[in-house]
Amino acid sequence: MEIVICRDAVEAGKLGAATIAELVRNKPDAVLGLATGSSPLAIYDELARLYDAGEVSFAKAKGFSLDEYVGLAADHPETYHNVIRRDFVHRVDFEDGNVRGPDGLAEDIPAFCAEYEAAMAAAGGVDLQILGIGTDGHIGFNEPGSSLASRTRIKTLTKQTRIDNARFFDGDLDRVPTHCITQGLGTIMSARHVVLVASGVGKAEAVHHVAEGAVSAMWPGTILQHHPHVTVLLDEGAASRL
Ligand code: GLP
Repeated sequence: MEIVICRDAVEAGKLGAATIAELVRNKPDAVLGLATGSSPLAIYDELARLYDAGEVSFAKAKGFSLDEYVGLAADHPETYHNVIRRDFVHRVDFEDGNVRGPDGLAEDIPAFCAEYEAAMAAAGGVDLQILGIGTDGHIGFNEPGSSLASRTRIKTLTKQTRIDNARFFDGDLDRVPTHCITQGLGTIMSARHVVLVASGVGKAEAVHHVAEGAVSAMWPGTILQHHPHVTVLLDEGAASRL
């Protein structure tokens, strides 16, 4: 695990973006694992800048999102389908149809999850997975207690995650969905390179466990200690418990 402590989140974003841009230059049809949330925003901002400057193209790339809320209407601004398009996909030349995510409105969720795993495998697997981390150590929406070998499936969101994410639903906890579909920890571990980005002291405890704690389902991000190629990009706040 390579840990890089940056001056601030902007510098961490630039480093993450440079890694992704280099991958896509060498392999234009690379498969990216895409994460939503505030953590990767600095990466997406920098990738949009590099695209505007003509320094990178995603025209042949594919993307698979990590997770999705269950039950939000397709036109709800906070579905991760819409968020990832707003934050990244539509700011560069990604083909909309080349970016897939879990379908939170699927009628048969287990069948959809199996199909999603098969689609990732058929695309050749994820070359680089972008990851944020929750304050409780969740990655994707793999909350504490998630099986370390899990694959894409439906999960219940913890109260803490719903509280953390209520800011996207006008601060109203009742509007935050109770369930999600998320790639599993085993799915995330199948990516060839994982780039985890975290900023702020609120993430310091989770980062401490990921880097220095015992591997445990109670801190799901700790499974990354078993991955052969992980890059962790931190600002000073997120690194403050290392
Ligand atoms: C959500 C997402 C995760 C994300 C986490 C942290 O729960 N499902 O993928 O890593 O929140 O979010 P943020 O980056 O906004 O702190």
